[in-house]
Amino acid sequence: MRLVNIGSLNIDHCYHVDHFVAAGETLSSLDYQRSVGGKGLNQSVAAAHAGMRVLHAGKVGTDGGVLTDFLEMAGVDVSQIVVMEDCATGHALIQIDPAGQNCIILYPGANMAVTEKDLDRWLSGCGPEDVLLVQNEVSCVPLAMKMARARGMRVALNLSPIKPELLTWDLAMADLLLFNEVEGEALTGCKEPEAILRALEGRYPQTELVLTLGEQGSVYSGHGRRTACPAVKVEDVVDTTAAGDTFTGYFLERWASGREPEECLCRASMASAIAVGRMGAAPSIPMASEVDAALERRV
Ligand code: RIB
Repeated sequence: MRLVNIGSLNIDHCYHVDHFVAAGETLSSLDYQRSVGGKGLNQSVAAAHAGMRVLHAGKVGTDGGVLTDFLEMAGVDVSQIVVMEDCATGHALIQIDPAGQNCIILYPGANMAVTEKDLDRWLSGCGPEDVLLVQNEVSCVPLAMKMARARGMRVALNLSPIKPELLTWDLAMADLLLFNEVEGEALTGCKEPEAILRALEGRYPQTELVLTLGEQGSVYSGHGRRTACPAVKVEDVVDTTAAGDTFTGYFLERWASGREPEECLCRASMASAIAVGRMGAAPSIPMASEVDAALERRV
């Protein structure tokens, strides 16, 4: 079994600020780092660190070598990453405040150059034993889900970032939907987690749902049952960037091999708690051995 992640690759420019910049304000940052990110890349790294065999497919510009190198170091198959001569690598401008919260502006660049032809090539060797993972930072996501389903693959969709066009997609094509409360509210118009889950359970009865709630933990709903997992308390939050991506990659590794939802949620929560104690997106994602050791210490 393989995870085929058709996802974004970004260079992250991270600015530490004492508050998020306001309209009309010019703000000096306290610190700056250039890092490796993109929701797609982060999720591939997390799934690979968790122990999955991962193929990452996507597009970068000629300046994207640092991203493919990072993925390769994490053990991810990068043979399907296309380098475009005429397009810049995607990048993100990230403000991080003293509480570790972030604000992100994206320049999609090469991520939005994914075409039907690329999907055909990337999915050509895939079958029912494989899982497709997609987020919403590359072009042609609904088509990727349709083509993967036609090949009998299981499909996991992380509804991030939420954009208006996503509300028109047929989400029933996904076997698994992962989203946070902001994305859940945008989809359903409901604010309360319970109301969000009820609405989506009614709309997509065959789809498994995972709702992450930050400090309130996470909830799984699927096959007629619900399971919740409390969040792991983190004393010193450094940077929440990629916390959700870490959760997604770690959750998928367990889910794809048919583990119980509670185990999937708890391991993913621990991985994500470790990630928020570190700087950066992909570089903050822990190895499986660190997650297991932390879980053991908690027992
Ligand atoms: O989820 C975090 C990621 O969102 C960052 O790495 C940034 O590149 C954006 O895609």
